[in-house]
Amino acid sequence: MKIARLLLVFTLLAQVAWAQRALPGSVYSATKTAESQRGMVVAPHPLASAAGVEILKQGGNAIDAAVAVQWVMAVVYPRAGNVGGGGFMVIRLKDGATAAIDYREKAPLAAHRDMYLDSLGQVMPRLSQDGHLAAGVPGTPAGLLEVHRKYGRLPMAQLMARAIEYADKGFSISEGEAARLNSFQEAYRKQNTAPTVFIKDQWKAGDRLVQKDLAAVLKRIRKQGAAGFYEGKTADLIAQEMQRGGGIITREDLKNYRAQWRTPVSGQYKGYRVISMPPSSSGGVALLQMLEMVEPYPLGQYGFQSAEAVHLMAEAERRAYADRAEYLGDTDFYKVPMDSLLNETYLRGRMADFNPAKAGQSAALGAGKFQLTKESFETEHTSVVDAEGNAVSVTTTLNSNYGCKVVVGGGGFFLNNEMDDFSVKPGVPNQFGLVGNEANAIQPGKRMLSSMTPTIVEKDGQLFMVLGAPGGSTIITAVFQVLLNVVEFNLDLESAVNAGRFHHQWLPDQIMVEEAALSPQVRQALTDKGHKLQSVKYMAVIKAIQRLPDGRLIGAGDPRNPDDDAEGE
Ligand code: GLY
Repeated sequence: MKIARLLLVFTLLAQVAWAQRALPGSVYSATKTAESQRGMVVAPHPLASAAGVEILKQGGNAIDAAVAVQWVMAVVYPRAGNVGGGGFMVIRLKDGATAAIDYREKAPLAAHRDMYLDSLGQVMPRLSQDGHLAAGVPGTPAGLLEVHRKYGRLPMAQLMARAIEYADKGFSISEGEAARLNSFQEAYRKQNTAPTVFIKDQWKAGDRLVQKDLAAVLKRIRKQGAAGFYEGKTADLIAQEMQRGGGIITREDLKNYRAQWRTPVSGQYKGYRVISMPPSSSGGVALLQMLEMVEPYPLGQYGFQSAEAVHLMAEAERRAYADRAEYLGDTDFYKVPMDSLLNETYLRGRMADFNPAKAGQSAALGAGKFQLTKESFETEHTSVVDAEGNAVSVTTTLNSNYGCKVVVGGGGFFLNNEMDDFSVKPGVPNQFGLVGNEANAIQPGKRMLSSMTPTIVEKDGQLFMVLGAPGGSTIITAVFQVLLNVVEFNLDLESAVNAGRFHHQWLPDQIMVEEAALSPQVRQALTDKGHKLQSVKYMAVIKAIQRLPDGRLIGAGDPRNPDDDAEGE
């Protein structure tokens, strides 16, 4: 009786809290760590995680919740949430079956290999990053509709309800969101051909962001499915925007776009099975390569962030990113040697010249020289597990903050600047400092190579972890390190996510080190081995869920993003 009363009080309190949080414009706060016996959603914004949990409570599965989160993110997180971008989703169903869907943007049909080069063959600065020519054909609506068609349980209209409500009625923005919108005003004014709600003299905390045009786009998708975006009025608006701004995406590009089912890549690491995204992302392949390269070494004995461990892991990262630059691209266009890249003998051989006392030399692997730009690590990731044990790991992006900064006139959504993820010229770095080659050269209809690494991990055939991150090139190493923090260094999930991280991407030949990572002694020891260290404030932003042996779910959002929010069902 007493327990029943307590339960009732708890339920009522939960409902009050829910009602407060669910109201558009209400004051929301983010929870970094949550525990649940049932489902869990970890997303980059409290309104999005709340929408995911709401769908779980309404009987939706993890796929439904992930889709609802993505629609809400497109409204409340315009810097990376999107309908004008693309992404990847890895799924593990309760029976252990796995799937992956690739809804990465594609190069328009009028795109060509040298489209960002001048008559002398030099890269025209920022043309692949800013404005209409930087946009690839969006994939997000197609991806969400397709994944829902195959695995969804609740009607799509139900999954879109919160997003449409927030777009129609608005939601109040935080101080950080206001500051971010203010800092891009010049770019919005420069790149846009039509008035947009994002242009304003001064945004401040508590202002309501109302997006009527975007609401109309979402309603067309709700009513017509893919045709609501890729044909008819929305397609017309995109094509007209392109014509006004000198872009090349056409109605034909939009009509032809399809999301693509892929077979996830998977591999074993000391009793864990790691399931991740294959090309057109490099994330899964590079992650599995790094794990295989470090597996023979006693990392746990070396100790968390000891000089030995960091040196070994950085050398594995160096080698994986060198392979990424040479071999990885869209497998629909380029024969990626997946079997060789993931072959155990090859990977053990790759570490044959590893010297525990001395840093390797990226130049010896045939490198160019370049500067890293700091524009953005703006992507977004969501991890979801439902009460039945279905799991979803989904990462999506516009690439830079607010993509190419172009808002589709009358459509109200930002377009991506994903074309910059192609290798615009062999050896010339993109905004993340990544270089590429033939494998990732521009071709019409091809998907540009990504680093997004939505990942699911099993232990003894059971779900163990769901994780992923935004962070451009640093996503892969962040997933690698957080996983090892848990399975090798025995950190609890929150500590594993919070811990400072480091990153080597072959070129430039340096280890980027977060301010919070590595003791002065370890930094000195790495410098003594010949590593160059580059201090950075922070890199990728992990969202993870761990299933404990007793079945409890622990969700962890990353303090690197104030809005990261973990919500139990
Ligand atoms: N746009 C960043 C990535 O896909 O890796």
